[in-house]
Amino acid sequence: IFLKDFNTFRVQSSATQFIDIQDEKKLIDLFKAGIFKDRFFVIGGGSNILFTKNFDGTIIKISNKGIQHFIEGSNIFLTAAAGEVWNDFVWYAVNHDFPGLENMALIPGTVGASPIQNIGAYGTELMDVMYTCRAFDTLTGEFKTFSNHDCGFSYRDSIFKSKYKGRYIIVSVTYKLNLHTKRNTSYGAIELELTKRNIQTPSIKDVAEVVSFIRVEKLPDPSMIGNAGSFFKNPIISNSQLESLKQLFPTIISYTIDEQCSKVAAGWLIEQCGWKGKEIGEVAIWKNQALVITNKGNATGKEIFQISQEIIDSVLKKFGIELEREVNIL
Ligand code: EPU
Repeated sequence: IFLKDFNTFRVQSSATQFIDIQDEKKLIDLFKAGIFKDRFFVIGGGSNILFTKNFDGTIIKISNKGIQHFIEGSNIFLTAAAGEVWNDFVWYAVNHDFPGLENMALIPGTVGASPIQNIGAYGTELMDVMYTCRAFDTLTGEFKTFSNHDCGFSYRDSIFKSKYKGRYIIVSVTYKLNLHTKRNTSYGAIELELTKRNIQTPSIKDVAEVVSFIRVEKLPDPSMIGNAGSFFKNPIISNSQLESLKQLFPTIISYTIDEQCSKVAAGWLIEQCGWKGKEIGEVAIWKNQALVITNKGNATGKEIFQISQEIIDSVLKKFGIELEREVNIL
């Protein structure tokens, strides 16, 4: 099976076997058949992976569908199947006038992928809204429910990416929203765009539309240009290291996390190293956002990986900060 259509980087790769799961019950059959004893990898929208070689094992694509909600007091509980497209799910909430997800409109990928790396954008993270998620344990063959706390969320990270990497397959996620949640428009780019549109009291839909607009302006559309969003995480460094860097680079962009550390804008670091808009063969660094690496059409995963290494090396050399990839490398 060829995987070009199953990864948003649109690089060529192949796997020994490809299984599409429309019904979670099928996972039990696969378990009984011993599929999980050999190498396997689970994909949703394929929007956070880079294949650098052929995959010697089974690719399992999660495609189950369904969204339900119920309201209890002022709380709204929404449960979505892992195979739902994330943005469709966001718009389900927006169209019902349920607040809390609108800042994460247009993030590529599926519902099932959302807890794995604690997706986030424009001031909201998955961990702010996730209630529970249900997953299949490929080791025991049973389903298990994780609470928000169980997931060990932190910036672009969870136990599904660290301690339990590759063990659990998310089959559905329940989100808890509240009817009284205020719009979060504190992110500079949102404020700016709302002002431009002369919107003083934005509706949930206004925010979702503005966020989508900003993303379209800044980020390449994966259906047109192969990419996987931010290729690296924004690095977290100590405040003392940040202070010394500020002496040398006064315009460095950072956000205070706490008394110990701050997050630095990786896009800025990469841009300062001269990468923004640069094209190297079939690979290009996005012209409007240096944190995004794109495939001009015929790049291989190896080439993209190689450029990402060169970016890491140059940022390390200039700033003494080692960038970490956000994208899963296979
Ligand atoms: N910047 C530059 N040059 C660049 C890119 C950015 O100077 O080439 C500056 C911007 O001007 C801004 C700052 O860096 O002052 C931050 O940029 P931006 O607002 O675009 O956000 P980001 O930190 O680069 C993160 C997420 C995105 C998310 C945005 C918006 C990560 C790794 N990325 O990007 O998530 O959409 O914030 O909240 O945390 C993703 O994970 O795939 C992703 C796209």
